[in-house]
Amino acid sequence: MNHEEQVRDYRAAVERALDHLLPPATVQPRRLHEAMRYAVLGDGKRIRPILTYATGEALGVPRHILNPPACAVELIHAYSLIHDDLPAMDDDDLRRGRPTCHRAFDEATAILAGDALQALAFRSLAHGELPGVGAAQRLAMVEHLADASGSRGMVGGQALDLDAVGRDLSLAELENMHIHKTGALIRASVRLGALASPEAGEDLMEQLDQYAKCVGLAFQVRDDILDVEGDTAVIGKPQGSDMAANKPTYTSLLGLEGARETCDRLYRKAIESLEPLGAGAETLRWLARYIIQREK
Ligand code: IPE
Ligand code: IPE
Ligand code: MG
Ligand code: MG
Ligand code: MG
Repeated sequence: MNHEEQVRDYRAAVERALDHLLPPATVQPRRLHEAMRYAVLGDGKRIRPILTYATGEALGVPRHILNPPACAVELIHAYSLIHDDLPAMDDDDLRRGRPTCHRAFDEATAILAGDALQALAFRSLAHGELPGVGAAQRLAMVEHLADASGSRGMVGGQALDLDAVGRDLSLAELENMHIHKTGALIRASVRLGALASPEAGEDLMEQLDQYAKCVGLAFQVRDDILDVEGDTAVIGKPQGSDMAANKPTYTSLLGLEGARETCDRLYRKAIESLEPLGAGAETLRWLARYIIQREK
């Protein structure tokens, strides 16, 4: 299997697992369950669960054991997108190539769907089958996901993002915002995959974390670039949304060239971090390149 096929395979695996985990739309409250399924099962790239699978498999963890953490990170992400698009936040109408959740349903249902997806993410970790993974490792997964998604992680980054509207940020402030709003969950996606392996010692965890920090930041820098030069039909969300909302971004601060150079620098650092993993980390290397070159 080449890397592209491997990644397609991971995507299909998490989509099957999510479909199974989400309450059916025929179960009450129907409209809420329908909205949850709409937001999660749309056309997402699934980069976070793919990182979980690729990290776990690089450390010899069988694929099916990675389903609960893979679903958990994607559920947190899907909830964050629903809330990110709300009128009180980015006020966007298009997501994953179709109307945002609050447009397709209504604002209250969208807020509740996000809330319920967050709870389901933690249920996936608490209840999912994790053969060979000890209770301490499972608890560490819960703790890492909570830290990464809460006020000192993703949600904290979203608060910084809203606070930055119309302001000039320094590069350090912008980096701090991106590290939190996007980097934290990507970092947790790698960490949860590693925690499924009994073999991952502290040194290896540290190297993987270095990799995850670099690709997590690069992912949001590329997102800022695509907001400027992407095509709405390809990215599946409104191009130019950041500029319209007067948001400071890597491109507004450094220009397109500067933002691209930042991505290249982060890519090189990510690759260096994977050195101790040798050939087993080829998919992680491929993903780092994909993240800085992606068109959607
Ligand atoms: C969009 O994330 C929000 C950011 C953190 C930049 P993705 O680009 O991963 O969105 P989907 O899941 O593929 O729709
Ligand atoms: C979103 O960042 C980050 C989270 C959802 C946590 P953006 O606001 O840049 O994401 P898009 O561009 O709407 O996908
Ligand atoms: Mg936003
Ligand atoms: Mg947004
Ligand atoms: Mg964006």
